[in-house]
Order: sequence, then C-alpha cells, then structure tokens
Amino acid sequence: MSEQILIGGQWRDGADGERISVADPATSDEITTVAAGTPADATAAVDAAAAAQPGWAATAPRERAEVLRACWSTLLDHQDELAELITGEHGKPLADARGEVAYAAEFFRWNSEEAVRIHGSMGTAPSGNNKIIVRHPPVGVVVMVTPWNFPAAMITRKVAPALAAGNAAVVKPPAETPLTALRVADLLQQAGVPDGVINVVPTADSAAWFEAATEHRATRMVSFTGSTAVGKLLLKRCADRVLKVAMELGGNAPFIVFADADLDAAVEGAMVAKMRHSAETCTAANRFFAARAVAAEFTAKLANAMSEVRVGSGFDDGVTCGPMINPAAIESISGLVGAAVGDGAEVALGGSAIDGPGFFYEPTVLGGVAPGAGITRHEIFGPVAPVIPFDDHDTMIDNANDTEMGLAAYVYSADLARAMRTAERLESGIVGINRGAMSDPAAPFGGMKQSGLGREGASEGIYEFCETQYIAASW
Ligand code: SIN
Repeated sequence: MSEQILIGGQWRDGADGERISVADPATSDEITTVAAGTPADATAAVDAAAAAQPGWAATAPRERAEVLRACWSTLLDHQDELAELITGEHGKPLADARGEVAYAAEFFRWNSEEAVRIHGSMGTAPSGNNKIIVRHPPVGVVVMVTPWNFPAAMITRKVAPALAAGNAAVVKPPAETPLTALRVADLLQQAGVPDGVINVVPTADSAAWFEAATEHRATRMVSFTGSTAVGKLLLKRCADRVLKVAMELGGNAPFIVFADADLDAAVEGAMVAKMRHSAETCTAANRFFAARAVAAEFTAKLANAMSEVRVGSGFDDGVTCGPMINPAAIESISGLVGAAVGDGAEVALGGSAIDGPGFFYEPTVLGGVAPGAGITRHEIFGPVAPVIPFDDHDTMIDNANDTEMGLAAYVYSADLARAMRTAERLESGIVGINRGAMSDPAAPFGGMKQSGLGREGASEGIYEFCETQYIAASW
C-alpha cells in the first residue's frame, strides 16, 4: 500500500513527519495512516511538475496516448485491489467500488483516443492580409483538488485529460480517502507516466496547502470537484493569481415523473439516481416531483424499493448502501429530515440514523413535501428521497429551476416530445430522459449556475486543460 506522498517520482514522508489517520466509516476504526503533506511539500510538488511538464508536452501525442491506454489497462488489472481500498476508506459496497474503478479507468481510454485529436485551425483574415492560426497548447501545471465520494474516478476524470493534453498534475486528494489516490498514482507510474508528471500530496491542512500550491508561479490552473461553498473560496483565491479554473460543484437535482410515465421504470431509475454509490453523488436526485395523479403510487413504490436496500459495511455480501462518510454527514441528514417532518412531510419509510459503530442512515422516503420546503433547498448527500406532488407543468418547471444549483436533472415520461421540451427548459448541465444514470467519460459532465464552471469528459474536457493561442502570420 502506498502510504507516503509522491513528488517527482519519489515516495517520501511530509516535511514535518506528520501523518493523517484514515478510518473505515463502517466502524470508525483506523485503517492506517498516510504521510501528511505540508505547504512546503505542495511547493515541492509544483516544482517537480513544472520540471517534468515541458518534456511531457514535447512527447508525441501518439506516445502520450499509448501511455494513457496503458493506464487504462493497468487500472483494470488492479480492479479488485482498488475496489477494496475504495470500500475500506469510503465505505461504498464492493460492487459499486468495482464499478467506480472501471469508470475511473475509462477516463484514460477515452482520453487516450482524444490525445491525438487536439485540433486547431487556420483561416485567412477578412482583410486578406494574414493567416489566422489557432492552436491549443497545454496549460502547464494543473493543481487538482478532489473529493472523497469517488476516491478514484474524480482523480482520473481530471488527470487523464490533463495528461492527454500535455500538462503535469499536482493532486490533493481528500484526507478521508487518500489511500486510493496514492495507489492509483503508483499504478499510473507503473503504466509509464513519467516522474513528476503526476504528483499526489495528501494533507491535513487543505487551506495552507492550497495557498502554497497556488502561490507558486508555475501553477496555471486549478481543477476542483467538491461543494459550492468550498468552490467559492477556491475561486476567490484563484482570482488573486488569475488562474484558469474548472469547477465541478454541488447539485440539487430534480427528478420529474409525469403521469404517463412507466412507474416501475421510473422507480428503477429513481433508485439509481438516488442511491448509486451510497447516495453520495453530486448528481443524486434530490427532489422528486411527481404528477399528483401518480404521486401516491410513485411514493409507495419508491418506499417499497428503498425498503429492499440493505445498509451495512460495503464488504458484506448483499449490502447495497454503505455508511455515510462521517458523523457530520449523519448530523446534516438528520437535521434536514427532522425539519422536513416539522414542515409537514409524511414519513413513508425510514427517517432515522442507525446506531453505530459506523455512520449509517436509514433509506428514507418522505411524501407530500412542499415545493419550497427546507429539505428541497439543500444537497442531502444521503439516502433520503423527498417526493413533491405537482399539478401544473409550468409551475413544476419553475419550482425545479428554483435553486442556485444546476448540475443534473431527470425526466420520466412516455411522451418523448414532452420529455424533450421539459429537458430544454431545465437549467441543468445534464438531463436524463427515462434514465437514472448519465455519467459517461464520452459525455460533457458539468453544471450550470452555481454547480460549476467548465466541462469534464467528451471532446470538450480536454480543451479545458488547453490554452488557446492565435498566431497572425503573413508569408
Ligand atoms: C460526483 O458526484 O461528483 C460525480 C458523479 C459522477 O461522476 O457520476
């Protein structure tokens, strides 16, 4: 197991010898400790990245593509081992963790295919006096701050396109899940990523780490996935240095069920949209709008499906929802559910935290929730589904859009034209029609409004990690 920080191809302890305790959220027992990076280590990591990046950028795109393809197959060769690390430190069921490793690896396969297709253009200026040549060189050194909910995939979603474009990465994984990050980096090095092109430095002091990493003159970009609140703080810091940013922030996804929807399919989709990866995704369905004619039946069917969820350690056979990440998550979910019940929601299922050890919450369905109730204004990040009956299509769309967030949305209807018209009116970067899962490295992932800036994946994803240079040339 890699339990040290990785800088310039060297594994070592942090400058002050401190360590971070990594715990299993299913028991709250310590699994192990990892070296904690200091601000000086963040600076050293940017130094190493800056030294390695020009050589990597000068490597032929085909060669970079082949290294990325080797990363894809190496990660898959270690799928079970990585899944066990993910389940150990995050808690999600092993099947979800295996799925995450496949998803994480796929970012390398997709971007290996994109690495040789970073196109520019050439045209003649309208005056006829010169050529307008546009090219897309790499940004340089990219600082990446990643979340705990996908300990592998949220790193590879950034590292793969950044490396494909010729950048070098300095990754700060979350203190909750550093083990997966370090092992992934180890495997990427084994697959041929040169020393210094990827550096991983966990820390116990994120603010000081980030300050040092972004103070460094070589840092050109910050890519962050996490909450909108933290994203805003990082954006302010990036403004001081006018750094390029890519931000994948919070969500508050509406899940809309029209009266003509196939209710069984809608419930199946709802379970995926709500419960995948233990309900701790930023795309998670957060507000279920059900047409009043079917709201009671949808609520009952959803409660029935949620009652089949088995909560427990992600290592146990048959478990489909693991623990929440920490006690603060349980406190937040309990507060939201308590307030919703106080506001008049009916508890169709669950409604309480489960006694420890570990941080578990009952799969919960709340019926009869009012459109503006407090629980509809917060990202729940837990296994709680509030159902809001609606009568009027236009009012429902207004309510669905009545949030500062705009990441994902889901629409269930047998009438594709109605579903498409609805999707077009939703202020969300990603809309699923009759689907509960949309994430795909080949598709542009990202949010509107305060859910983020930029897109990850698809062809767009690689250009986030590129500059645009225009050359006016006469000959
Ligand atoms: C996230 O929750 O941050 C990402 C979800 C996904 O990639 O599906």
